[in-house]
Amino acid sequence: MRLAVLVSGTGTILDAMADAGLPVSLVVADRPCRAIDLAAGHGIPTSVVVRDSFGDDFDRTAYTEKLTAELDAADIDLVAMAGFGTILEQPIYGRFAGRILNTHPSLLPAFPGWRAVEEALAHGVQVTGCTVHYAELEVDSGPILAQETVPVLPDDDVASLHERIKAVERRLYIETIRGLVAASPAGGGPE
Ligand code: GRF
Repeated sequence: MRLAVLVSGTGTILDAMADAGLPVSLVVADRPCRAIDLAAGHGIPTSVVVRDSFGDDFDRTAYTEKLTAELDAADIDLVAMAGFGTILEQPIYGRFAGRILNTHPSLLPAFPGWRAVEEALAHGVQVTGCTVHYAELEVDSGPILAQETVPVLPDDDVASLHERIKAVERRLYIETIRGLVAASPAGGGPE
């Protein structure tokens, strides 16, 4: 089972995956970021498929095709997004149908999108959490594999609440992926 992890940021989830011994065969980023440095530090092959525009001229489909080709070239079976900052288009969902995972810092379907933690705070919810799910074309949609609640504390700001959620994601995402790897005929189980 060859697992690829897609990252854009600080990479604490990726770091926890590598520490936990998940079989990460490739880490792909859309920009230079700390997560790529962490991957290299773990001796994991990396690739930065640079996103050349954050404006209206961004060709999302062409970008997705380029990234999907990288995954194909590395013979990847399972793709896990872990803080990946580019919304991808149909080509990857066609090529890796049912084999793309995501972790999101809210209890989906509440608060999809990039500002999940900020929106949870703004709504004054007292409980939020994280969701591990199969990813589909619509952002933060797809069958849910695991969820866990996280309390919102009275003096929380976005950073403190997000860190409390990420502490759970670092465990729940790994447990979920480990279960999928073990159940797959491609590997993970006893020989
Ligand atoms: C996580 O909260 C993830 O759910 C969200 O981005 C964060 C990634 O954190 N999409 P890190 O880069 O692994 O520290």
